[in-house]
Amino acid sequence: MSVLFDNTSPYRPIESWIYDRVIAPAVMELARPMDRLVFDFLGDGAKILEVGCGGGHLAEHIAKRRSDVSLCGVDLALEQIHRAKRRCSAWQDRLTFLQGSVLDLAFPDNCFDAIISVASIKHWPDRVHGLRECLRVLSPGGMLNIIEAERGCRLDSVRAFVDRWRIPGVFKPLSLFWFRTRVAGLGVHIDEAATMLEALNLPEHRVERIDGTPGLLMSGRKA
Ligand SMILES: C[S@@+](CC[C@H](N)C(=O)[O-])C[C@H]1O[C@@H](n2cnc3c(N)ncnc32)[C@H](O)[C@@H]1O
Repeated sequence: MSVLFDNTSPYRPIESWIYDRVIAPAVMELARPMDRLVFDFLGDGAKILEVGCGGGHLAEHIAKRRSDVSLCGVDLALEQIHRAKRRCSAWQDRLTFLQGSVLDLAFPDNCFDAIISVASIKHWPDRVHGLRECLRVLSPGGMLNIIEAERGCRLDSVRAFVDRWRIPGVFKPLSLFWFRTRVAGLGVHIDEAATMLEALNLPEHRVERIDGTPGLLMSGRKA
């Protein structure tokens, strides 16, 4: 089944290709708060897990800025993993990519210093289960940072976001309608984000809107 109709299905090769070319560069704007994590919070030699890494845009962004950290990207779609490996081939000594689901991560407990995920949680069949699995592999004191489209996002922020998609202007009104109704509709409501984080019993957590974008950042620290 296409991910267009069933959001929990893996992306098909053509869907991965279109996403990677058209939308992923704009999604990097939603991922802007990750810079704070990368520059201010990660200690030397930190190990990051990126869940739903897609074609590796964020992994590449991080690898260029921090030469000491290692990152493992996991994605449900094998095609996305191939794409990420190609994009990040210059850093294969410290960037690895594996096909798998957030619901069953192939890592021991407490082995990453930070978990990051951008625009992926809306695809997870069970969001709280996925978040608990992320916490299982996160070390005590480690940071969890999840970014997703906000269900109640403002139309002007959606317009600014869709304006950055690499498509001819004639397709933008339809794309705006599709994003605002279908994609953001599958996203996370700000109250739901707070409820999910509370269910995880983290000592510190917060939910914030990402200025000028249709995105939300859910962040927390493991006890
Ligand atoms: C909208 S894309 C975002 C990709 C990338 N994070 C980015 O920002 O460009 C969502 C990604 O989540 C992945 N995904 C969906 N369900 C998943 C799951 N259960 N476990 C891991 N990854 C999943 C998809 O295959 C897809 O690559």
